[in-house]
Amino acid sequence: MNKDIEKISITEEEIDSCCAKLAKVLSKDYAGKSPIFVGLLKGSVPFMANLIKYLEIDDMEIDFMDVSSYAGTTSTNNVRILKDLDADIGGKDVIIVEDIVDSGLTVKVITSLLKQRGANSVEVCSLLNKQSRRTVDVTPKYVGFEVENEFFVGYGLDYNEKYRQLPYIGVLKREVYMQEVE
Ligand code: PRP
Repeated sequence: MNKDIEKISITEEEIDSCCAKLAKVLSKDYAGKSPIFVGLLKGSVPFMANLIKYLEIDDMEIDFMDVSSYAGTTSTNNVRILKDLDADIGGKDVIIVEDIVDSGLTVKVITSLLKQRGANSVEVCSLLNKQSRRTVDVTPKYVGFEVENEFFVGYGLDYNEKYRQLPYIGVLKREVYMQEVE
């Protein structure tokens, strides 16, 4: 285990079987459709990679966006697109793939942006959901794990861009992030 990790909250095996389960539901819900899975960089990368392995959808695409949203607003004018989609999502069924929904701001803003661009439907699939932190009205339809308000890293989740490579989700030792505050 990485020396900065207090405890492993969700193991690699648990994440893997969760991806298989979610993919089964998604494959059923999008049967006969041509959905596009949109990962939000960078946190969604490991989850996206694992999830799509298990999807049984013949006609599907993946794409990525990198956005930064400003706290305190849900307006699409206040989201900065650092990397836009390559695909035209007009008329498409979109699934936003996230590592975590926290305040809900990011997925709220991106959902309305993609609807504005003419998506037929937009749903959210998130590995983690921190319901207790929600500040805007957002309910991801597909959720891997409901989690408490702890400092999670790993499997795409970072602290100062580190720990994304860990194959599990763990809680960061307090001393690691308190060093910067002190
Ligand atoms: C994180 C995470 C979500 C978002 C969740 O991304 O990956 O996209 O924050 O927070 P919210 O629900 O409060 O909007 P971040 O902007 O840190 O970028 P990253 O994916 O590159 O880590």
